[in-house]
Amino acid sequence: MANVVVIGAQWGDEGKGKITDLLSRSADVVVRYQGGVNAGHTVVVKDRTFKLHLIPSGILYPETECIIGSGTVIDPQVLIDEFDQLEAFNVPLENLKIAQTAHVTMPYHRLIDQASEERRGSHKIGTTKRGIGPTYADKSERTGIRILDLMDSDGLRDTLQWTIPYKNDILQRLYDLPPLDANEVADRYLQYADRLRPHVVDASLRINDAVRSRRNILFEGAQGTLLDLDHGTYPYVTSSNPVAGGACVGAGVGPTIIDRVIGVAKAYTTRVGEGPFPTETIDGIGEVLGSRGAEFGTTTGRARRCGWFDAVIGRYAVRINGMDCLAITKLDVLDTLEEIKVCVAYEIDGVRTTDFPSNARQFARCKPVYETLPGWKTSTEECRELDDLPTQALDYLKFLAELMEVPIAIVSLGAGRHQTIIVEDPIHGPKRALLDANGTPLEGSAS
Ligand code: GDP
Ligand code: IMO
Ligand code: MG
Repeated sequence: MANVVVIGAQWGDEGKGKITDLLSRSADVVVRYQGGVNAGHTVVVKDRTFKLHLIPSGILYPETECIIGSGTVIDPQVLIDEFDQLEAFNVPLENLKIAQTAHVTMPYHRLIDQASEERRGSHKIGTTKRGIGPTYADKSERTGIRILDLMDSDGLRDTLQWTIPYKNDILQRLYDLPPLDANEVADRYLQYADRLRPHVVDASLRINDAVRSRRNILFEGAQGTLLDLDHGTYPYVTSSNPVAGGACVGAGVGPTIIDRVIGVAKAYTTRVGEGPFPTETIDGIGEVLGSRGAEFGTTTGRARRCGWFDAVIGRYAVRINGMDCLAITKLDVLDTLEEIKVCVAYEIDGVRTTDFPSNARQFARCKPVYETLPGWKTSTEECRELDDLPTQALDYLKFLAELMEVPIAIVSLGAGRHQTIIVEDPIHGPKRALLDANGTPLEGSAS
């Protein structure tokens, strides 16, 4: 058995939905541990495309329990729309559970997110305007509303009697927006509560029971390492901890139960929203990647910025997440290219480094140092084994693995489940041995 965390190794949209769905075959429980409806995880099964914002990407397996964990923030209207989307395809939702301690995105959170982005002008973050930052801010400020508060109608009405006037002050005085009506908001959210109630549980208790029963648990990260509130490209980040460590806090488990961490990275790089992006290519190649990769945001529809693979942030993601192995997605998008560049280092003010600078101002001045590899100029979409890949594609993957010092366990060559090469099954396959200072595996460190 293995408890596995799946995280994004770049700026989000790496294909975590596809990889989580794929691995969910072998999982008993799938937990989303942070983020909210800013996430958009796509799962393609035959001719059907599911766009999931909050519901874990394991939901298409009827036997798998899916838990929206305590560290997430929940916009009930969007969640209910997701229920409807799945029910329309006869996907059963009995096994979907919602943590009672997750925080709720309220109407004022969205309004404040939108208005504050406008107020920032050229300093805007480029958020999804889904109220994520303000919901987490209220959680930290201890003015948040939790799922369990929605379950108590008198309590909710009472809380909103002071929360709404407080938020109305902000909406009206700071942003010149009309006020919200406390009773209207309470009525609406209590209706949502009726729909959510059958799913609400003590999530940490349930997940730890599953651990004790030695069931396989998959923790599904949203966003990506470089969008992490503590370790990303602050302030151009999201307001939660997508990194692997966030799984423990967000699910309510101890770090000792995590067996493996799988990083998902595209074979190139994309970013949505503002903020530095050293390998961004705004010439023809960025457009080729964007159009071949259909790089438009799943949540907002915005065009994603595109660029070459950046091994400096890749190595950083390996470090911050304690990554055991990688899933490289969208290799097929590179199929037509004559040559492919990989950023192997940065130059900051004339000094070369392979370490990601945690100083955001320095990061903004980084110039990529590229190595150029030959393209393979043939379709990889039908490849199902490593041996099926053209030599140049195999060399490209080896180069990435060497630069990042982490093995590649999965290669994805299309959005469909079958368009995948499993090099090593990250749930059942051997765990990478921990090495001592001489590179010798430590006894008992591999399972
Ligand atoms: P997530 O947020 O990390 O789950 O990623 P998204 O779903 O937002 O974006 C990834 C997009 O790429 C989705 O449209 C997927 O269907 C698609 N996708 C995933 N893997 C592959 C792949 O290997 N090749 C191609 N061409 N598309 C892929
Ligand atoms: P998934 O899970 C890509 C980006 C936004 C913005 C920044 C802050 O699909 O990979 P927020 O609304 O979170 O306050 O916005 O984070 N962002 C994402 N980018 N994929 C995501 O999720 C994202 N979620 C947030 O574009 O730059
Ligand atoms: Mg996405």
